[in-house]
Amino acid sequence: MMLTRESLEKIDREIAKYPEGRKQSAVMAALAVAQDEKGFLSDEVIEFVAGLLGMAPIAVREVASFYAMYKYKKEPSGKTRLTVCTSLPCRLSGADEVAETLKEKLGIGWGETTPDGRVTLVEGECMGACGDAPVALIDDTRMCCRLTREGVDAVLREIG
Ligand code: FES
Repeated sequence: MMLTRESLEKIDREIAKYPEGRKQSAVMAALAVAQDEKGFLSDEVIEFVAGLLGMAPIAVREVASFYAMYKYKKEPSGKTRLTVCTSLPCRLSGADEVAETLKEKLGIGWGETTPDGRVTLVEGECMGACGDAPVALIDDTRMCCRLTREGVDAVLREIG
């Protein structure tokens, strides 16, 4: 089975929120449940979710690749995606130093994943938070502001 029984039950509960014959409406919630379990959405997971909802895989893939909150990857990626903004205002505020410190501590470069599969480090573009530069985003949901070389440890602790 591609997903655990617990995840399947969660998806069933999401499907039950919609009228009979409308289970496709639960696609976003189902993808979120699958991503919670797997850490990212692979083509295999997308096909599985499509099967559960009676949808064409391409339609589910379109949803997964359209919304930034989904980590749709052809390749496996880390459980947590850490995106560091490297646009100019952040760079002028020290983003390069922060990025170098992160790379050193994690032992990986841009686009790479730690050997334990915990973190993937991604180079990002302006996140509209230049006033708080330099910034990084944990899993596209939690923003870390005014980062410093010393503050990197706190970010890594937050990732766990
Ligand atoms: S340049 Fe980094 S948030 Fe705008």
